[in-house]
Amino acid sequence: MTQQVEPSHEMWSSRWLFVLAAAGSAVGLGNIWKFPYIAGENGGGAFVLLYLVCVAVIGVPIMMAEVMLGREGRRSPINTMMSLTARFRSNRLWVLIGWIGVIAGFLILSYYAVIAGWALSYIGRMAGGTFVGADTSVATNTFEDFLGDPLLMVFWQTLFLLITVWIISKGVVRGLERAIRWFMPLLFVLLVVLLGYSIASNGFQQGWNFMFSFNLEALDQDAVLVAMGQAFFTLSLGMGAIMAYGAYLPSASSIAGTVSVIAVLDTLVAIIAGLVIFPIVFVNGLEPQQGPGLMFVTVPLAFGQMPLGVFFGALFFLLVSFAAITSAISISEPALAYLVEKYKLKRSSIAIVLGFISWILGIGTVLSFSSWSDFYLFGGLTFFDSVDYLSQNIMLPFGGLLIAIFAAYVLPKNIIKQQLGFTGETGMLLWKIFCGGIAPLGVLFVFITSGLGDLFITLFSSVK
Ligand code: PFF
Repeated sequence: MTQQVEPSHEMWSSRWLFVLAAAGSAVGLGNIWKFPYIAGENGGGAFVLLYLVCVAVIGVPIMMAEVMLGREGRRSPINTMMSLTARFRSNRLWVLIGWIGVIAGFLILSYYAVIAGWALSYIGRMAGGTFVGADTSVATNTFEDFLGDPLLMVFWQTLFLLITVWIISKGVVRGLERAIRWFMPLLFVLLVVLLGYSIASNGFQQGWNFMFSFNLEALDQDAVLVAMGQAFFTLSLGMGAIMAYGAYLPSASSIAGTVSVIAVLDTLVAIIAGLVIFPIVFVNGLEPQQGPGLMFVTVPLAFGQMPLGVFFGALFFLLVSFAAITSAISISEPALAYLVEKYKLKRSSIAIVLGFISWILGIGTVLSFSSWSDFYLFGGLTFFDSVDYLSQNIMLPFGGLLIAIFAAYVLPKNIIKQQLGFTGETGMLLWKIFCGGIAPLGVLFVFITSGLGDLFITLFSSVK
């Protein structure tokens, strides 16, 4: 009953290519756009520390679990869970893991495409010289004017989705591998150049202190949940994206080593992005808690003051858009792979339907920044904030919780040992401690102690 299933479609030719693809999924808007702005909204230091702890003790074990389940099942997350529950005679309800991934994927992709559209539109603005020598008011007004123009935002959102749908319908993973090989290091280099600029600015010390002075008082209840949600989001965890990629990982590759490389890379990019953005915030008298526009105001300001800023600024937003595309591809993979397996339809037809659903949902996010800005859903959140909160802070950690429990307690010991390459008992013990103990208990603890209980009460009372 426990024979290995052969992959239905072959993919990564080596572990290194898996690392690139998984890093392409992990490194995206979550690191460069989202991490700095939510760290800013949540007071910096203590939030950053919590996020790092969540990445290390919750994220890493759950990422290992996802890769392992994917490689054991060798199918889309839903079918992987179906085949694993059948093989190991466990409850069919575990397939919920796959479904959470599909639904969270739609929710995330819907707003991800909108923000990625902002990045796409900024390529032209940077290249056109809008920000050369610009001051804070030019940068802020340009962004606010953009937010107030839903049609323009829909145009860029649509363009981003069209590119994504085109790529996923081709299944050009090989092409992507090649591109990731070049773009990712380039993005990294450009971030380091920006870091140099920030270090040379007068605000570096202040930016550093903001990120690393652990002022626990700045934390409110909800911040713990947001920090954990961010750890899941940034590592692409809890919705089967990494599981879907793990389905194509060659059997001989070490999971622990591979996952550590991805987690370190991803965290490094987020921290550097923060160290780039906060000094610019302080030097220019901006507010760290200004929200989703943070990157779109600060980065153009910095490039506007730099020699060759027009070129490098455009390149920066090009690379960010590229990083967003490689993430968007993985966000849609659990649903796409499932539908391809189930209906045997062409990838392209399914990709178009997926893109269309995300597009419609995304209109709500577009409007959240203008005509719907006073329209609140759950607990006083706008449409965008609600979709974001529900997917990132609730669905991903909940999916991750189930994945951890399944991987620690339902999978037979011999499979775990074989997948993780454990020879003695120490590895197994560590696995039980981290994946079976700390990670799921950590998620539960954060769920219980955060404002989530209050949120449900609010939700419930608003439904009544
Ligand atoms: N990790 C991506 C980012 O940081 O931008 C976003 C993401 C990708 C989330 C894939 C979830 C996912 F399944």
